[in-house]
Amino acid sequence: MKIVSIGGGPSGLYFALLMKKLGPHHDITVVERNKPYDTFGWGVVFSDQTLVNMREWDVETANEVQQAFNHWDDIELHFKDKVIRSGGHGFVGIGRKKLLNILQARCEQLGVNLLFEQDVQSDLDFPDADLVIASDGINSRVRSRLPAVFQPDIVTRPNRFIWLGTNRQYDAFTFLFEKTEHGWFQAHVYKFDNQTSTFIVECPEHVWLAHGLDKADQDASIDFCEKLFAKNLQGGKLMTNARHLRGSAWLNFQRVKCANWSHFNGNSHVVLMGDAVHTAHFAIGSGTKLALEDAIELVRQFKTMGDTVDRIPEVLKHYQAVREIDVIRLQNAAWNAMEWFEVCGERYCDQLEPEQFMYSMLTRSQRISHENLRLRDKAWLEGYEAWFAARTETPGVRPPMFTPYTQRSVTLKNRVVVSPMAQYMAHDGRVGDDHLVHLGARAMGGAGLVMVEMTAPSADARITNGCPGLWNAAQTADFKRITDWVHEKTDAKIGLQLGHAGPKGSSCRPWQGAGMDQSVPADDPEGNWPLMAASAIAYLHHGALPRAMDRADMDRVKADFVASTQRAAQAGFDWLELHCAHGYLLSSFISPLTNHRADEYGGSLDKRLRYPLEVFEAVRAAWPAHLPMSVRISAHDWVEGGITPADAVEVARAFKAAGTDMIDCSSGQVSAQQKPTYGRMYQTPFADRIRQEAGIATIAVGAISEADHVNSILAAGRADLCAVARPHLANPAWTLTEAARIGFKDIAWPRAYVSGKPQLEAGFARERAQQTASKGD
Ligand SMILES: Cc1cc2nc3c(=O)[nH]c(=O)nc-3n(C[C@H](O)[C@H](O)[C@H](O)COP(=O)(O)OP(=O)(O)OC[C@H]3O[C@@H](n4cnc5c(N)ncnc54)[C@H](O)[C@@H]3O)c2cc1C
Ligand SMILES: Cc1cc2nc3c(=O)[nH]c(=O)nc-3n(C[C@H](O)[C@H](O)[C@H](O)COP(=O)(O)O)c2cc1C
Repeated sequence: MKIVSIGGGPSGLYFALLMKKLGPHHDITVVERNKPYDTFGWGVVFSDQTLVNMREWDVETANEVQQAFNHWDDIELHFKDKVIRSGGHGFVGIGRKKLLNILQARCEQLGVNLLFEQDVQSDLDFPDADLVIASDGINSRVRSRLPAVFQPDIVTRPNRFIWLGTNRQYDAFTFLFEKTEHGWFQAHVYKFDNQTSTFIVECPEHVWLAHGLDKADQDASIDFCEKLFAKNLQGGKLMTNARHLRGSAWLNFQRVKCANWSHFNGNSHVVLMGDAVHTAHFAIGSGTKLALEDAIELVRQFKTMGDTVDRIPEVLKHYQAVREIDVIRLQNAAWNAMEWFEVCGERYCDQLEPEQFMYSMLTRSQRISHENLRLRDKAWLEGYEAWFAARTETPGVRPPMFTPYTQRSVTLKNRVVVSPMAQYMAHDGRVGDDHLVHLGARAMGGAGLVMVEMTAPSADARITNGCPGLWNAAQTADFKRITDWVHEKTDAKIGLQLGHAGPKGSSCRPWQGAGMDQSVPADDPEGNWPLMAASAIAYLHHGALPRAMDRADMDRVKADFVASTQRAAQAGFDWLELHCAHGYLLSSFISPLTNHRADEYGGSLDKRLRYPLEVFEAVRAAWPAHLPMSVRISAHDWVEGGITPADAVEVARAFKAAGTDMIDCSSGQVSAQQKPTYGRMYQTPFADRIRQEAGIATIAVGAISEADHVNSILAAGRADLCAVARPHLANPAWTLTEAARIGFKDIAWPRAYVSGKPQLEAGFARERAQQTASKGD
């Protein structure tokens, strides 16, 4: 085969040498526009695993690279006059020039033709090539020539960065944070040879502009950075090797991904590789890893499927299919890490203490969890656990999940909440044995707080005929029986979620009829009832149409909420939550998708919040002052034009000003058009953002299914409590089980159940030992 790589970066060179090794008869040329040693940038860093992959494919290159590597384990943070270091992270750094040099030499040794100082215009310049590798970097000319074919999706990110070097020695991956009068800057610093470290300085666009850096040339920018980080540099100088760039050397990161990676141009098959097809932000330093692994995968496909011209189409198809999955995973992690650095100045630097800031930074990609940190550096993690526990006046080392939490006069024994879950088991709004068993079992199961499902302040406020209510004395007595039981038999607290179904009322139970949120048919013997909402908009297009509330409706509903609140206090609840989420009545006022009112309760967010806040204030006044109140909101409608996470911060601020203690951060269910992005802990970023930006305690909820999730969320300060719903349906003793799973024994079991505790703990201990043993094999 005749193969041409356009671009002699890591991907083009590495593919060329591996392919030549696979089939020495192939005629392979790499065409590079720069001179052999003329390259932009300093060192690159990747993980130990990349080297393991390289060794499998070409021992010679791997050995050379390994010899040139600088290996280090530690991450060090310099923040607010504190230096914090943790170990076990395992990085390798190498000069970009050195890496290219090794790859170039190996290419020559194997017989690859290297052509330098040739600026290629197009993939069509090589009509006799069977295969053209477009390894021409982030601004790929080949990709740009055929946007309709490759369908690139390119996002330019808001932060500015400059890639500098320094001769000052660093022995850890070092992060420096400095505050200026206009905002925060950070530097990512790592050593890549015995004399030099990469020193990337980054800040938000507005901070960069405020300092006039858009007008600064490279020398002025270096001067600025040297002064900013003078304390750390200790007289060390910063250097640039991007003098060929005209004007400002401050760049914006561009995230590139492409729908199609290859194409036949009439003469040759063309395939994109490395930065030309995907980029990963330097916050997790893996662009070079991706480039090298692309090269490996393409060669692997040729090796498996045959390295002849006729096999090229199949090979390219499989190459994309296999690589795409890994690339997406890495890009997602890189995206989270990148976003963390983009928002840290506004969200974390001023809010978090250095210890917690370090934890938040280490877990920024959400790929590294609490237990993962324990494996990396047990001593550091335990020190942090002790620090966290000390903040709750708990001595010793314990996972954050098992530290107490106090709001007003109520102290929860731990940070787990059984999230409210509708049971549809009430009759005439009355809860009976079903609820006693359901709530009682979960109160025995170890959670600090058990929330009762959404309970209606009036009969027509229920979601279904099977939903509970609190509008009469009998219902109050039924609930009192349950709270008394919980208080007498367990040390859990029990809370009530009060909510009005609004446009989603008069629905079928989920197991009746056609599924969730379906309106009760007009001829149903159980009957249905008229609905109200902020505006006359049905939740489902074929569903019952609510009427828009008038002021008399508002007064009546508010009075119902107040009366129910008084009953909730009489019934002995410890905690009250006002349901302002999921498209129910109060939520229907907040979202612009469901509130089209033209009066003082519609329009801007502050007007849309007016009625929900009015209800909240009336309820808060009726609820005993020593007891806490939370508000559940949908922090994201997941629909264009709906509530966004930024709006949710404003919503939280408004409720905070009205006296809310906590925001329970759910999302969605406001519009049937929603397109949520599900995943592990997928709503936690909303709890995090609200906690930091609105300065109010939060409850995270949604796909939190392991103690490790809970600990990671709490330890990073992303929320104060974690609500867990569906896992509690499978296992009422979820908290007790998770404690045993992570080997935490200092937790009380119900007296009658204690003989189950050592057995469960021993079982999990065996499992952990087996896992450790199999990792060592
Ligand atoms: C600030 C910063 C820090 C980074 N840090 C890291 C890190 O720590 N770890 C990491 O793994 N990655 C890092 N990267 C990313 C890394 O540099 C790239 O992901 C990696 O180099 C991609 O390799 P590539 O071969 O695809 O492209 P490139 O390395 O960009 O190579 C493309 C080559 O093609 C040549 N070329 C382009 N157009 C033409 C043309 N028309 N004709 C001829 N030649 C052409 C270019 O001159 C270049 O040599 C960082 C990037 C930046 C910006
Ligand atoms: C069966 C069921 C009923 C629910 N009922 C309510 C409810 O009454 N009030 C509420 O705010 N959320 C309700 N939810 C949502 C949960 O409280 C929780 O926010 C959601 O299930 C995400 O958490 P998870 O991933 O841990 O299940 C319900 C969820 C389920 C599965």
